Amino acid sequence: MTSSAPSVPLVGSLAELRRRVADWRARGERIGFVPTMGALHDGHLSLVEEARRRAERVVVSVFVNPTQFAANEDFGRYPRMLEADLDRLARVAADLCYAPAVEEMYPPGFSTGVTVGGPAEADLEDRFRPTHFAGVAVVVAKLLNQAEPDIAVFGEKDYQQLLVIRRMARDLDLRAEIVGAPTLREADGLAMSSRNVYLSDEERRVAPALHRALVAAAGRISAGEPIGHVMGEAREEVATAGFAIDYLEARHALTLARIARRQDGPARLLAAARLGATRLIDNIAVEEAR
Ligand code: PAJ
Repeated sequence: MTSSAPSVPLVGSLAELRRRVADWRARGERIGFVPTMGALHDGHLSLVEEARRRAERVVVSVFVNPTQFAANEDFGRYPRMLEADLDRLARVAADLCYAPAVEEMYPPGFSTGVTVGGPAEADLEDRFRPTHFAGVAVVVAKLLNQAEPDIAVFGEKDYQQLLVIRRMARDLDLRAEIVGAPTLREADGLAMSSRNVYLSDEERRVAPALHRALVAAAGRISAGEPIGHVMGEAREEVATAGFAIDYLEARHALTLARIARRQDGPARLLAAARLGATRLIDNIAVEEAR
């Protein structure tokens, strides 16, 4: 044990979560919430710090949500390391870690879903993971009802997810304010991700090429080069580096609608690409013309 930070209380039951949150609320404290699937890295911790700036108490959930994984995906081998996660949460002084069992979240007979449209049907992640956002929506709706936070922080790393959750919170009148936070990156630009541990040494060396291509394309588009041409070259560059591309596209930053010209609105470049068996996603903003 190298850390001297006080340990973070761990609760597994909804009843206990509600009791603790009610105590804080009775004292007039604001509750911040950061949902995660664990295997916490500095990107996750930056969300906790963002929540801490906006609320007196911060709850972090760690739950590998089975309903957002398709049968052929990595639910079984997704990294699980609750002890290490608790150590990391202690370092950023989270107030509580909520790690429910699958049966607590999905008891026998569970049969309700949340249908998400709009940004969930943008033909990006949803094209390759058609059941994913329904699973994300149901678990996030449950978690927000369980913790009843004043604010909940989500990463721009999963940009389409952030927009789907914003839309859902608005449409279902969930009380939490949804806050987006920037993507934390390794020194070479690779977006931090719990899935980066899957990369071989060679794949890890190649991986930053995805972010490099996005940065170069965003710079050229904001300098006025045509979007179609720039994105075509970016796709070539990423494929040449060794990725199999699922998508690499320019979209409207708020609606995810396709855009042909920079004047069509604030633009966001979004990509998903596979290196061997590992699928990486990333996205960046296109700076607006001054
Ligand atoms: P997970 O992948 O664990 O991510 C939890 C949160 O951390 C998400 O909001 C994600 O966007 C954010 N995050 C991931 N990498 C980041 C980085 N490099 N910088 C900043 N933030 C980052 O996303 C999920 O879990 C799940 O879908 C969840 C919302 C918890 C629902 O199950």
